Amino acid sequence: PYVITDACIDVMDRSCMEECPVDCIYEGKRKLYINPAECIDCGACEPACPVTAISLDTKVPSGKAEFAEDNARFFEEP
Ligand code: SF4
Ligand code: F3S
Repeated sequence: PYVITDACIDVMDRSCMEECPVDCIYEGKRKLYINPAECIDCGACEPACPVTAISLDTKVPSGKAEFAEDNARFFEEP
């Protein structure tokens, strides 16, 4: 799945949400998160983000690997 990294924190532009055909991008308090169980890997959200916060999980920039796990964790039951 695609994941949203730290660049989204306190920016929350939300252009990504408008592009997602399956509405699998959800709002947290300070950033948005992509539900890995729902993302169909279409890639539509990636170019929509003005701060390039979105990457495919296998292509997340070095040093930001934890955001793939962080996205998944957001959707786990408490
Ligand atoms: Fe939605 Fe496609 Fe982005 Fe996945 S890759 S979050 S399905 S727009
Ligand atoms: Fe965040 Fe970029 Fe979407 S800033 S809300 S990932 S368009």
